[in-house]
Amino acid sequence: MRQRFWPAIRGFAPLFALLLLTSVAGAAPRETNLWWMPDVASEGGKKIDELIYFILFLTGAVFVLTQVVYIFFLVKYRHRKGVRAHYSHGNNRLEVIWTAIPTAIFIGLWAYSNHLWWNVLHTNPPADALEIGVTAYQFAFTFQYPGADGKLGHSDPKLISNDNPFGNDPDDPQTKDNFVSSTLELPVDRPIQVRLNSKDVIHAFYIPQFRIYQDMIPGRQIDWVWFTPTKIGTYQLACNQLCGSGHYNMKASIEVVSQADFDKWNQEKSKPAPQPSPSPSPAAQPAAAK
Ligand code: CUA
Repeated sequence: MRQRFWPAIRGFAPLFALLLLTSVAGAAPRETNLWWMPDVASEGGKKIDELIYFILFLTGAVFVLTQVVYIFFLVKYRHRKGVRAHYSHGNNRLEVIWTAIPTAIFIGLWAYSNHLWWNVLHTNPPADALEIGVTAYQFAFTFQYPGADGKLGHSDPKLISNDNPFGNDPDDPQTKDNFVSSTLELPVDRPIQVRLNSKDVIHAFYIPQFRIYQDMIPGRQIDWVWFTPTKIGTYQLACNQLCGSGHYNMKASIEVVSQADFDKWNQEKSKPAPQPSPSPSPAAQPAAAK
């Protein structure tokens, strides 16, 4: 069976190699921290990093300690002329101790990380959180902001269509002043709550610097992801699910700016669009629901 497997797939090897190459071609190359995690730029991300460092140092210390003990006894009881080998049956009390301690550590780590994950992601965001709608489609992201009233209004994934990419409820007046953006503009130090939708297949909302990753699933609105960006700068939102031929290039720019810059941008975008002139590129930028 195994012998027949390789010849069967060998013809696809160049294709796999090409896929591997092109799947990273569209991403922004990293210039700093090449051998470590990308710089953390969100509140919850710092807590997740603390957990990662804690686990890394704990397991690292245990690794060093056990290797030192192992090598010590290896040398101490090495083969020597005239010394007879002694057979040990083991020690039940020791066995229990070194099984119980790691078990307790693992259960503790599970409880701590579960608690942390819940705190970072699944608690309700603060009341002043900015709500942003995000819709993924083959092969781009589009974002919706709440406009002057600060509310996105009711939306339903069943209402998602080409003319209504965010599934806005036309009967909810709060949806009327929402506006659309092709970049994810975020005010620094302000909690952001995203409403994630997909128009076609599974995509992903992935921002390594924020330590945020959530799949975007067609037919389901995911509204529990929130985060607080802490550093002004440009980041990249990259799709992280192999979603089709254009996956390698499915990305959007994230601009984290000061609250003042954000207010300016928000006001500019909130202005009612000049009336009839037909949009120059309706395909690239789906409009908000009328
Ligand atoms: Cu969308 Cu990959």
